[in-house]
Amino acid sequence: MQAVVVSREDRTPRVVERPRPTPAPGEALVRTLRVGVDGTDHEVIAGAHGDFPPGADELVLGHEAVGVVEDPNDTDFERGDVVVPTVRRLPPGQDGNEYFERGEPDMAPGGEYVERGIAGADGFMAEYFTSPAEHLVPVPKELAEWGFLVEPVSISEKAFELAESARSSFDWTPESALVLGNGSLGLLTVAMLDLDDRFERLYCLGRRDRPDPTIDAIEELGGTYVDSRETPVPEVPEVHEPMDFVYEATGYSKHAFETVEALAPNGVGALLGVPEDRTFEVDGGRLHRELVLENKALVGSVNSRRSHFEAAVETLAALPEWFLSNLTTGVYGLDDLSAAFADDDTTIKTAVEFHEHEKR
Ligand code: NAP
Ligand code: BGC
Ligand code: ZN
Repeated sequence: MQAVVVSREDRTPRVVERPRPTPAPGEALVRTLRVGVDGTDHEVIAGAHGDFPPGADELVLGHEAVGVVEDPNDTDFERGDVVVPTVRRLPPGQDGNEYFERGEPDMAPGGEYVERGIAGADGFMAEYFTSPAEHLVPVPKELAEWGFLVEPVSISEKAFELAESARSSFDWTPESALVLGNGSLGLLTVAMLDLDDRFERLYCLGRRDRPDPTIDAIEELGGTYVDSRETPVPEVPEVHEPMDFVYEATGYSKHAFETVEALAPNGVGALLGVPEDRTFEVDGGRLHRELVLENKALVGSVNSRRSHFEAAVETLAALPEWFLSNLTTGVYGLDDLSAAFADDDTTIKTAVEFHEHEKR
């Protein structure tokens, strides 16, 4: 079968032949429909994040997959079921740890997990993949086309849950939210917040000139575009308003600290970006004081677990079709990988298509 890999010597994604995997007991064989590409894939390709499987010189890319069960093997799935795989697995050689046993692999510290397509394990960007049944989440057939978005939506489901629980000890009544970053995760998150009636005013920050498809998407969702070159994050409260919720999805590390300044009293910021090391000055005293005297909270959030995937399936079904089609700027076959991995201002979200889903 064909698979898309990067290798240690050649970091350009390319197609290689790999044997079709055989499901082990408890695993199903899945025929891949589509696999999405996000900022993390670009970081993996650049060698800035993730790792090869132990002893391997190649990594099969892809962690945002949707597929159809081809061989249920000994699992409860049926042939033809549409499924989305979760990302984290036990490290090779480990037969269990407390995080996986609790069903919370997203909370495992380094060394207690691998991530398929990212860190230490081959991903899903291949004609077929196998997965233990407990890591496959069913998706209604009507959603198969957009199923590659379940994983990124699940990332925000988890981040919202963590942020919300940091405000659960009092009567938190948020009205305003600011998403930092107009990449695919940022835009999906604006659309998700738009489904939440509490958020009357939504803002999304980027650094693009008009005309731009991401600014169009923000405005069609009823949000306000904030250009970070004109309005840096600490000035947002003065130019717009203090924010009850800030969601950072730029990976620009100054934003992690500036989030505190953008927050309203009692607000919460969720940090999602995965930056490289970077040194800069911050007024630590002021940030510390604001966090304390204004009851602000910052939460970091990575990955997501089965319950977040299940919530994401529901959310995806509620997102408007026009938004999903505008977000997805291209779905490409293996003969057009350079378009699938393009990183320019006309590309928002792409997916690689392996098999078409028969519409029944
Ligand atoms: P992406 O497509 O690269 O999006 C990042 C966006 O932020 C880009 O649109 C970029 O604008 C914008 N940006 C960067 N620096 C900026 C600045 N200083 N001012 C204004 N805008 C700025 O990546 P993504 O897939 O949406 O993911 C976003 C981040 O979340 C990445 O760091 C990724 O690694 C991380 N992530 C984390 C998780 C998790 O579990 N924690 C999950 C998924 C992704 P331009 O395009 O104009 O440069
Ligand atoms: C993936 C997560 C993963 C994170 C860190 C994200 O792009 O969606 O599943 O945990 O990167 O590697
Ligand atoms: Zn991702």
